[in-house]
Parts: sequence; structure tokens; C-alpha cells
Amino acid sequence: MKDKVLALLKKQEAYISGEEMSQSLGVTRAAVWKAIKKLQGEGYIIESSTKKGYKLVEKPNVITPAELAPMLCGYTLGQVIKYYEVVDSTNEKAKALAREGASEGTLVIADQQSAGKGRLGRNWNSPAGTGIWMSLILKPEILPQYASQLTLVAGLCMCEAIREVTGLDATIKWPNDIVVNGKKVCGILTEMSAEMERINYIVLGIGVNVNHKAFPEELPFATSLALEGKQDYERASLIKAFLERFEKDYKHYKVDPHLTAILSRYEAHCITLGKTVKIISGNESFTAEAKEITIDGNLIVKTETGEEKLIHSGEVSV
Ligand code: BTN
Repeated sequence: MKDKVLALLKKQEAYISGEEMSQSLGVTRAAVWKAIKKLQGEGYIIESSTKKGYKLVEKPNVITPAELAPMLCGYTLGQVIKYYEVVDSTNEKAKALAREGASEGTLVIADQQSAGKGRLGRNWNSPAGTGIWMSLILKPEILPQYASQLTLVAGLCMCEAIREVTGLDATIKWPNDIVVNGKKVCGILTEMSAEMERINYIVLGIGVNVNHKAFPEELPFATSLALEGKQDYERASLIKAFLERFEKDYKHYKVDPHLTAILSRYEAHCITLGKTVKIISGNESFTAEAKEITIDGNLIVKTETGEEKLIHSGEVSV
């Protein structure tokens, strides 16, 4: 009921009477009033006038299904949204849902994560009300060996979405960290369940630091879009901008899971290319110049002795 009342308020620029809403929704005026109270409790500023009715004046920066679903209608991804105010990790939740048979494109999203997971077993700082903590359940019919490329596709789409929504100079640090002014604003953790020749599901977990005003001391290389852009951004708009791009690129990827079609876009935003990078792979550590990204998403580097090496994403930190 609350979502339906919200939809009516959004449609109407001027006031809409309680009577009109109750008739159009086929419920009592008391039910409309109750829904209005609930929305106000969630942070929606709704003006009410005994003569004219109700008017939505301001909406909170939330990522609830009531906000997201209307923005995502017409897409394939995000048609099922599982929203949690607090969850341990959206990746963990998404894996559990995928095991229970959740459909391709299910979007698991939380306002806060109590045990957000980063790559290489690290924690991911995920406070309430500030970021985007989301995981998409995907079931591409491709060989498991091509799954890591998907992370690069997603990184590119989020980089472009951030550029569009904020105007900030977001760049990609290979393979998929998104960096603004040298500091990280977004990370991606892809997890997969597969057999030798077949993927059961992929969980694509994306974390974006959107409106954080500060970070814990132990994260000196993290920043947020708000800290860099000196203003808050609407999280729902960023999710929409990402899904709009990712939906298209994912469609291509399912047919040809190489980066061929997006490589020039990826290279245009990748700050790793041409740089001397430190590669830590297993017990080995060396510096080399980043030369090229292959259509499989690997990095070709040239070592100080002139030897070319192929670095696999997911295996190293650069
Ligand atoms: C990284 O270390 O760069 C990857 C961070 C990925 C964080 C996101 S937040 C949503 C999803 N759920 C998690 O627990 N992790 C990912």
C-alpha cells in the first residue's frame, strides 16, 4: 500500500486529495493516511493540507524497492529486488538465494552490511545510509573460465555510471578498482559456483562509497564520491545508470564472453596502462611496465629485463 501511495504522490506535481487516492487504490482514506505516516517515518517530506490533500516535497536518499523498482522497469536485471536494511553481506545473502533457486538478474541490496567482504579475504567498510552495497545473481551459459571477465565489464560500467552521474574523473585501476583522485571509491567481489563445464551462478558484488563524510584511519586509500565532489549524490540514480549500461554489455558478454566489444572503452579509463606497477603473485613480487590488456582481461607487462609476462586478474594485486 505504502509503495502504491508513493507512486501516486510521485506522479502528481501538485496536491492530491486523500479521497482521490483512496478511490484510485480502492482502499479507505484511513489506509491512505496510515501509508502517508509510514512514508514520513522513512524520511519522505509530505506536506498535508486539509483542503488540498497531500504533496511530496522531498524524498530521502534511499535505495528501497519503492524507489528503485520504478526506475528499473523495462530492464531485465533488477526485476526482483531483495532489500535489507542490515545484512551481513549482500554476497552471502545472494549466494544463499541463488542456492534456493533465485532467478537470473535478482538484485540483492542493503542499506548497511555488518560483515561486508572485500577481495583477498579483507573486510569491506559498509556503514548505513551512505553507500551502495549490492550483489547481482547472474547465470550466463558460458564456460567457468570466462567468469573473471565479467568483473571487468562491471567495473567499466560502474566507472562510466559514476562519470555520468557525478561528473567526477573516475578511472579504473586494473582489474576493477574504481579510483577518483588516486583513491578508491568502488570495489567488486565476484563469487561463483560452477562445475567443470558449467556455471551454476555468479554473484557480482559491488560496493560504492557514495556519501561517506569520513573513513576509519585504517583505510587511508579510500574515499567517497561526496568527499571528492563536495556534494551528496542520489544512490538510486547511480544504480540505475550502472544497470542501464551493464544490461547492454552483459547481453553481448553472454554471446561472446571476451572483452572485444568494450576493450577500447575500458582502455580509455584504465590508469594502469603505461605505468610501472608492482605485482605480487603468490610468493613472487616484481615491478614491470603495464603494456596492454588482452581480450580475456589479462594484463601484459614488461619486466625490467625486457621479458613480457601475462598477469591474470584475480591472481595479483597491482
Ligand atoms: C574489493 O575488495 O575491492 C571488493 C569489495 C566488494 C564489496 C561489495 S559490497 C556488496 C558486496 N557484498 C559484499 O560483502 N562485498 C561486496
